[in-house]
Amino acid sequence: MIRPARPDDMAVVADIWHRAWHVGHAGHVPEGLTAARTLEAFHARTPARVADTTVAEVDGKIVGFTMVAGDEVEQVFVDPRSHGTGVAAPLLAAAEDRLAAAGHDVVWLAVVVGNARARAFYEKHGWRDAGDLPYEVSAGGTTYVSPCRRYEKAVSIGGTSAPGR
Ligand SMILES: CC(C)(COP(=O)(O)OP(=O)(O)OC[C@H]1O[C@@H](n2cnc3c(N)ncnc32)[C@H](O)[C@@H]1OP(=O)(O)O)[C@@H](O)C(=O)NCCC(=O)NCCS
Repeated sequence: MIRPARPDDMAVVADIWHRAWHVGHAGHVPEGLTAARTLEAFHARTPARVADTTVAEVDGKIVGFTMVAGDEVEQVFVDPRSHGTGVAAPLLAAAEDRLAAAGHDVVWLAVVVGNARARAFYEKHGWRDAGDLPYEVSAGGTTYVSPCRRYEKAVSIGGTSAPGR
């Protein structure tokens, strides 16, 4: 089930974000940024993001989430135990639908260059690599530059994240 997040979901969202972030990013971003991405840091970030968050539940348990910001699919994170189970596609589609409903025609996301699994996932779902994007991230009072690619996709209300769209 895909549904909007509620305030009492955000602790589980933070736990998943922490586990999945390290799977996708460690070794591909500056070491200082990896060190700053502690469980506590994710718990500090999540409560303010309820309104931007959509979660996926399987058997009553949250297994992944997305967050949107402006015209960006800002976060797509599935618990590593649920990678490859098909949960990520409807989550991504929900984020795309949400941005389309907000009036955006073309949406974007940043993905770390070395995150091959995520890049394959986005490309499978019709996202286009639109070039280099040095992405500035602040953590623990320091600004880091992560080597990213910008991906874009045209979206429409009621669309899906089907391959090739
Ligand atoms: C990105 C993410 C949401 C995708 O969900 P998922 O369930 O893993 O996605 P899928 O399994 O449907 O698709 C991944 C594809 O990459 C492939 N893949 C796996 N490892 C790969 C690698 N090292 N290189 C290239 N492709 C790879 C998979 O085989 C699969 O393709 P297939 O369906 O043709 O077999 C999930 O992996 C995740 O949460 N990762 C950690 C957090 C993260 O990186 N988030 C994205 C931040 S931008």
